[in-house]
Amino acid sequence: MRHFKTELKKIGVYTSGGDAPGMNAAIRAVVRTAITHNIEVTGILQGYCGLIEKEFMPLDLRSMANIIQRGGTMLKTGRAPEFHKAEVRAKAVANARAEGLDAMVCIGGDGSFTGAHLLWKEHQFPVIGVPGTIDNDIAGTDSTIGFDTAVNIALEAIDRIRDTAASHDRLFIVEVMGRDSGFIATDVGIAGGAEEIFIPENPVTPDQAIERIKAGMSRGKKSSILIAAEGHKPGRAYDLAEQIRKKAGFDAKVCILGHVQRGGSPTAADRILASRLGSAAVEALRQGQCDAMVGVYQGNVVTVPFDNVIGHKKHVKDELVQLLRTLSV
Ligand code: F6P
Repeated sequence: MRHFKTELKKIGVYTSGGDAPGMNAAIRAVVRTAITHNIEVTGILQGYCGLIEKEFMPLDLRSMANIIQRGGTMLKTGRAPEFHKAEVRAKAVANARAEGLDAMVCIGGDGSFTGAHLLWKEHQFPVIGVPGTIDNDIAGTDSTIGFDTAVNIALEAIDRIRDTAASHDRLFIVEVMGRDSGFIATDVGIAGGAEEIFIPENPVTPDQAIERIKAGMSRGKKSSILIAAEGHKPGRAYDLAEQIRKKAGFDAKVCILGHVQRGGSPTAADRILASRLGSAAVEALRQGQCDAMVGVYQGNVVTVPFDNVIGHKKHVKDELVQLLRTLSV
């Protein structure tokens, strides 16, 4: 974590990368905490794209009304591959300074934090990160904003699938999001009583899954649900179903939940997490902290240097995967 010295008069806030339910609650917390401390807030639209294109909007207390319950992000978001170029980052910082910003709050994931880290490293422009992604794949925080909502949305879908799977004695493979991590798949698998999960962190072959299904059948099971994390290949559940059909002759139905998991009203847990972290981000900046992320560790808000966050992999606990297998007999 780095420290900067300046009296904060105005800060910027942006959401970046994939949207996540609870981002609006985080924006609200940033704005209301800042204004309470007489700090003005500028909203930057569409993440780094808005910073490059000077898409700014003033945010006041009342503009934050009625957003805590809304999914998506009122500031919009985006992925900006051009931010990989040093000259684009220099332009972005020039725009931020011309707007009078003393610092910024970045609500996003690992990629967004990498951009923020470079703004400090190259231009000493202070940014503090707030972890917002449904994937929960950010080191240094127990949970990320949007994860709990995504898990609950996927779980509701799985409960519905279970009804039809049981009625037809069918095997289903449900694919959930998570990019290259299996946090959503693991939580949904345990909470949904799935027979097996396919996650990047703890790879299972179709043969192993077939064995578990057959073992279940020998104990009288008539239907099964397997959860597949999308991994690097969204749609991989179709490949798995095909392999299972070829190897065992089981006709596996596939359901890909996709972006449904990213929308909708955030859960109470996500709204509370977002409110705590959004507010903590402003407090961290007021204390001159930057080049770091605010997160939650063992129930407490912590500030973690970007150096300990970016590129550090958070792992699904093996113990949870074992629990799922123990309980799905
Ligand atoms: O990072 C959030 C996430 O929803 C991942 O789970 C998923 O792999 C990716 O974003 C999808 O990105 P996009 O919406 O750009 O297709």
